[in-house]
Amino acid sequence: MKSILAGKKILFGITGSIAVYKAAEWVRELTKAEVEVTVVMTEAAARFISSLTFAALSGRRVYTGMFEADAGEEMTHISLAGECDLCIIAPATAQSMAKFANGFADDLLSTLVLACKAKVLVFPAMNSNMYCHAATQANLTRLQEYGYGIIEPEQGKLACGDEGIGRLVAWETAREKILSALAPQDLADRTVLITAGPTWESFDPARHLSNRSSGKMGYGLARAAGRRGARVILVSGPSAIDPPPGVEIVNIINAREMHDAVMEHYKSADVVVMAAAVSDYRPAKTMQQKIKKGGKLLDLELVPNPDILKKLGQKKKKAKRPLLIGFAAESSHHIEEGRRKLKEKNLDLIVINDIIGKDTGFAADTNQISLIDRDYGLEKLPLLSKEVCADMILDKVVKLLQ
Ligand code: CTP
Repeated sequence: MKSILAGKKILFGITGSIAVYKAAEWVRELTKAEVEVTVVMTEAAARFISSLTFAALSGRRVYTGMFEADAGEEMTHISLAGECDLCIIAPATAQSMAKFANGFADDLLSTLVLACKAKVLVFPAMNSNMYCHAATQANLTRLQEYGYGIIEPEQGKLACGDEGIGRLVAWETAREKILSALAPQDLADRTVLITAGPTWESFDPARHLSNRSSGKMGYGLARAAGRRGARVILVSGPSAIDPPPGVEIVNIINAREMHDAVMEHYKSADVVVMAAAVSDYRPAKTMQQKIKKGGKLLDLELVPNPDILKKLGQKKKKAKRPLLIGFAAESSHHIEEGRRKLKEKNLDLIVINDIIGKDTGFAADTNQISLIDRDYGLEKLPLLSKEVCADMILDKVVKLLQ
């Protein structure tokens, strides 16, 4: 299945720290995600792990020396620096950062970094005293001024036996930073309000009415919008997922609370995406005490909840904003139902997803969606990861915003 990073070209600079072994794992992850990884190692790095390891993991030639190219070949430092979408340095030693900060070009990697026009991300890893030293900090500040992304190392037990700051960040953190660095900043200066997850409608202190929504799609959208530079407000029903970094989270339990939170925040939003699976009904009464079982049938009276999106659609008739995106969770007549909801709720876009397929809908990591826009243009997408779906939905949102 298509990875969100597929086809990207990353120049991966590796410098001489014991954390080199972790970089091997990163190269493997990137290669698995169909990234074209070109590894450039300093001589010190190659003393920790042979370049052969990285050649095997990346499936490509690894560069170490400045004068390796055969006569007549292109100048390696210029061609490698010009070809990549992103350059990452991991692990980055104090020595290598001092070189980059001062514009030194005395080996292949420092020369490449100087010649590189793409964004550079630096992942330092070293002993904490070295990291905290004023000289290293001054170099980091200077690199930030040049526009390099610096990813602060983690606290913990270091290879030298000390405790403190200096551990190379975990792969998950690095992946997120890489994705953000590669994301187009086409939602910068935009506020996106996203709802996610189920709502719980309680009928006594122990029980509630709900649905199978996990929040994965809504949280994925929030993360993807944040990467693209948006201010994200995430109104979430109960979900086990950690909120993505940087989003403003508003936790709610039931549909009426979601309604109130959306009504409070939508005015500052350029886009509202209702990915939540809002319960259409709630129990007419919430009992203060647990309902005891009796021998007979139990009647539970339900009353309708407000239709949040429909209300926003009505308001939009006058105000003309924000852009409204709805979801249609369907088990049959998907496209007809999607069209009906698009029209009835006065939406700009509806995302239709099938909820009964094995790999689609609630709780799955993948989804098969169709998009219908306000001009009734239909786009059916193949089975994709929810992460890729989120980006494709946002591509459409960006177009509609224009
Ligand atoms: N929605 C909402 N408020 C509700 C119910 C739904 O804002 N009370 C939103 C959902 O978040 C979704 C869209 O409306 O973006 C469509 O939701 P869906 O459950 O597919 O459809 P319903 O409008 O509830 O219609 P039906 O139950 O007949 O399928």
